[in-house]
Amino acid sequence: MPFGSGPRKCIGYRFALLEVKILFFNLLSYFEIVPVQETQIPVKICKKSLNMSPEGGLSIALKRRQ
Ligand code: HEM
Repeated sequence: MPFGSGPRKCIGYRFALLEVKILFFNLLSYFEIVPVQETQIPVKICKKSLNMSPEGGLSIALKRRQ
């Protein structure tokens, strides 16, 4: 729940999600996301965090598309 919830929920969340989608569209049109040696497969979800996040972070790399 990165935008909170209830009556004081972020009013910019639709705009923020749109921005992130545009960012990923542009990023993924030039690069693909690839695993590296440190990438956990399958990903372990951190049980201490309120948000759903990978334990110890997520190591990935970007590879330029041909
Ligand atoms: C990734 C981007 C963003 C994240 C993660 C985020 C997150 C949050 C969070 C957690 C809150 C508090 C919600 C609560 O108290 O329950 C909040 C409030 C708010 N956000 Fe965002 N926000 C983002 C982008 C934006 C944008 C782009 C705008 C405006 C264009 C915006 C405007 C606001 C406003 C005005 C509030 C106060 C709402 C209120 O108190 O009634 N936010 N945001």
